[in-house]
Amino acid sequence: MQLKNKVVVITGSSSGIGQNTAIAFAKEGSKLVVNYKTNKNGAEETLRQIKKTGSQGLIFQGDVSDENTVKRLFKKTLEVFKKVDILINNAGWPTPGYLEETNKNHWLANFNDNFFTTVLCSKEAVTIMKKQGGGKIINTASIMGIDYGGREGVIAYSAAKAAVINFTKTLAKQVAPTILVNAVAPGRTQTPYYDQFDKKTIKYFIDANPIGRMINPEEITEAFLFIAKNDALVGSVVTVDGGYMLKFGKSFK
Ligand SMILES: NC(=O)c1ccc[n+]([C@@H]2O[C@H](COP(=O)([O-])OP(=O)(O)OC[C@H]3O[C@@H](n4cnc5c(N)ncnc54)[C@H](OP(=O)(O)O)[C@@H]3O)[C@@H](O)[C@H]2O)c1
Repeated sequence: MQLKNKVVVITGSSSGIGQNTAIAFAKEGSKLVVNYKTNKNGAEETLRQIKKTGSQGLIFQGDVSDENTVKRLFKKTLEVFKKVDILINNAGWPTPGYLEETNKNHWLANFNDNFFTTVLCSKEAVTIMKKQGGGKIINTASIMGIDYGGREGVIAYSAAKAAVINFTKTLAKQVAPTILVNAVAPGRTQTPYYDQFDKKTIKYFIDANPIGRMINPEEITEAFLFIAKNDALVGSVVTVDGGYMLKFGKSFK
């Protein structure tokens, strides 16, 4: 698929991987829908960068774990850009906790931000893309969602990302070849999420990556671009983890 003039909706594109990816698609000539939940300044910066490339974009504020908000997001996209070629389900955030520290609300928060965002946006996109006769959906999983990659301290997030992977593969079977559904599974990537950790913890994260550093958001963005351009990937999970799964896949210690 050529990306010029394609309409691309990216949830959670006010910072980190989503922001970087939105700007990269704009550089390819795509038209962007920038979604954010709380970070208005970040979303405005994304739009500024999109416009600098000469491409068009619009900002849609809203929590995409809410069904009505998701319907409004796609209604607005169709009003302005008339179609949806690519949906990138990127919104997500880990709320940490070991099982004994969690309650049902904790699990719901993780599943809302990381799984139901993906399900609800995909449902709207599939309806639109079927009518159009084509489209692509790219979900954002995580190494934490891959077999043996789940971590005890983010047990609910790990389960939610595993659900994203299963959902990706199952939906891919249903809607191919009209709609191609795939996922990217990032390893530990240097985004604002990591600002909360001290130097010792960051060193631990770096030591777990055989590449000896955190992954750059640009390196995750390249996987989104690759999947968007490639028309033979169906139900794939492209893992960009700096080798993390080789070193830490089976055991934590
Ligand atoms: N960084 C990593 O190491 C890593 C590794 C594996 C997977 N991932 C995944 O990659 C994705 C991006 O992460 P990131 O590191 O780039 O984090 P980030 O910089 O914190 O960005 C997260 C984005 O998601 C948005 N968001 C969260 N919940 C939302 C909701 N319910 N509705 C709408 N927007 C929502 C945030 O919006 P606001 O800030 O505006 O509220 C923000 O734009 C996430 O799915 C994350 O789980 C990241």
